[in-house]
Amino acid sequence: MKTNRLGLYAHIPFCERKCNYCDFVSFTGKDEKDFKKYIDELLKEIKDRGSEDYHVDSLYIGGGTPSILPSNLMERLLRKAYDSFKLTKDLEVTIEVNPATVDKEKLNSYRSLGINRISMGVQSFDDTILKKLGRIHSKKDVTDSYNLIRKAGFNNVSMDLMYAVPGQSEALWEESLKEAVLLEPEHISCYSLSLEEGTDFYDSFNKGTLKLPSYDEDVKMYLITGELLSKAGYHRYEISNYCKGGYASRHNLKYWNMEEYLGLGVSAHSFINGVRIENHHTLNEYYGREKVKSTHKNTEYDNISEFIFMGLRKTEGISLKDFEDRFSIPYKVYLKDRQDILKALIDQGFILEEEGRIKYTLKGILGSNRITIDLM
Ligand SMILES: C[S@@+](CC[C@H](N)C(=O)[O-])C[C@H]1O[C@@H](n2cnc3c(N)ncnc32)[C@H](O)[C@@H]1O
Ligand code: SF4
Repeated sequence: MKTNRLGLYAHIPFCERKCNYCDFVSFTGKDEKDFKKYIDELLKEIKDRGSEDYHVDSLYIGGGTPSILPSNLMERLLRKAYDSFKLTKDLEVTIEVNPATVDKEKLNSYRSLGINRISMGVQSFDDTILKKLGRIHSKKDVTDSYNLIRKAGFNNVSMDLMYAVPGQSEALWEESLKEAVLLEPEHISCYSLSLEEGTDFYDSFNKGTLKLPSYDEDVKMYLITGELLSKAGYHRYEISNYCKGGYASRHNLKYWNMEEYLGLGVSAHSFINGVRIENHHTLNEYYGREKVKSTHKNTEYDNISEFIFMGLRKTEGISLKDFEDRFSIPYKVYLKDRQDILKALIDQGFILEEEGRIKYTLKGILGSNRITIDLM
């Protein structure tokens, strides 16, 4: 019998301080005692949800700021995860790090624990912008920690950058991109700032004290990103993600390919056996006996909508054959009622149908939110 693949995600919900734009579930002002209690609970969850039925081929430790944990706690977490699941030989293990929270000792420990991919939250190479974003690190911290990461022997490094942030001109964004390219990471994610309720930016924007780049500037920055990174040898494989050959994020591709993953920790999400599971969002609730907040068995329509919505995020789009293998209804039949919409989107140059696939054109990516809703 073929054993299914599985991605594991473990959420570490702690940060030294909250960035002004961020609404991820993460708590500040916690100490080592709190970290230990959390890891104890996470280990309980792994014990309950561990399974021999799957082969885990990716493990992603995200946050929050996972690199805030002392090495002994990270070691307990990884050892428990490794012991509780069957692992593939080529397991990809990623950890998100904030440049201000790594040092040589932690990086060496990550290496010895089998972590083979580092995702750095860089955001910008401009110190004024970093300050505005509320980041706890400077540009120099980024280059210093990047050099330490390479010295420790990591050969798969990703950087997160943000654009269309307050006070950022197109030229400033281009500067940051160039600085990133000079360091030659294998993977770069570029996110346009999204204004999230409950953040400092959200409040300042509503008070009228925060000015954001316009929609046109945002689009311009997206186009600059594509051109500059393509010239530097990076391939856009998802709306916001770029990599050098072979270095796409295996873990994130699971989300876009609607493959199975198990999310552990406060606020983590899972998709397994056709069921979407969401864990509790507060530490108090998560520390209770039941860690799961809600479950939802996907209907066939949910699965089809998600397959289209997530699949079109990839540059290669969706394969009509995959669609037909997965669902009981051929794509063209499913689309029958929406045939006019698809034709119009193709005629208007938003969508391309070629070699058995449907994908966005660049014009389509720029209007993607509206278009996928039309197609679902
Ligand atoms: C959970 S963070 C991981 C890294 C780590 N916490 C750090 O910031 O150093 C994931 C990434 O999401 C992006 N991000 C977070 N909030 C965002 C927002 N409101 N708009 C756009 N991108 C955002 C940032 O690029 C961030 O690095
Ligand atoms: S962006 Fe990263 S470091 Fe900043 S608050 Fe969010 S999770 Fe924490």
